[in-house]
Amino acid sequence: MKNKSLVSISDYTRDEILRILELAAFYEANPNQPELKEKVVASLFFEPSTRTRLSFETAINRLGARVIGFTDSSSSSTTKGETLKDTIKMVSNYADLIVMRHPLEGSARYASEQSRVPIINAGDGANQHPTQTLLDLYSIQKTQGTLENLTVFMVGDLKYGRTVHSLLMALSHFNPVFHFVAPKELEMPCEYKAFLRERGIEFYEQKEMNNLEQADILYMTRVQKERFSDPMEYERVKNAYVLRNAMLEKTKENMKVLHPLPRVNEIHTDVDSSEKAYYFQQAENGVYTRMAIISAIMGIK
Ligand code: CP
Repeated sequence: MKNKSLVSISDYTRDEILRILELAAFYEANPNQPELKEKVVASLFFEPSTRTRLSFETAINRLGARVIGFTDSSSSSTTKGETLKDTIKMVSNYADLIVMRHPLEGSARYASEQSRVPIINAGDGANQHPTQTLLDLYSIQKTQGTLENLTVFMVGDLKYGRTVHSLLMALSHFNPVFHFVAPKELEMPCEYKAFLRERGIEFYEQKEMNNLEQADILYMTRVQKERFSDPMEYERVKNAYVLRNAMLEKTKENMKVLHPLPRVNEIHTDVDSSEKAYYFQQAENGVYTRMAIISAIMGIK
């Protein structure tokens, strides 16, 4: 992991994933570890973010490093026509590590090929969000006591939702059973279903949010309005699924509801007070997991 970019969750082996989760537990117990005092981390967000950016910046601060960057590409020379290649070449002269979110699929891989320093993909279009996956895995392991043999329901926008793509790939190391709940327009893309078939991993597709009593994890997602080219199509599917507290009645006692957030309507606020709602703690786990990722890449742990 040392000095290696993290572009896709497939860049990490099963053992490397488990190592990050172990480190995240260390940082949760010991959150102030100024081990990177001499380092500068660039945070380049070409797309909006609340959790990913702020939890990365918190992680960087807790590790004692300094942050440079922008939260809105309109304040960068991108608006003057500077290419991503030139931006990355410049920033890699200034920083020891680059965290980047960008709307284009494949942009993180491209950036990693141009950069002199490692790149962490903080989300590239509808493609991948590997650091979200690592915090999702940390949350699952913390609440279920294991990552093995779990039944995971993924609900909502499985087409454009990058978090489910990365999570599916990572969980494939741990013998899961998946239930994909999505309308026709937002089904899990074929390449991810092929990925599961090649590995002999069981999955089911359904249109209704039923059979929830089988779930260990119910992973809700937002319909990704910003990825639709046709606003009418978004209007048709935006409220396809709304989870309400009453729907959790017959679910397993230790079942947890996860969501990468932000949510819009897909989880009613009456779920928030349920012990099964774990999405806010999940977001908190992002700080410890991102501390673990940064320290592994910078080679301090
Ligand atoms: N989960 C997530 O990526 O949230 P933000 O878009 O707020 O960073």
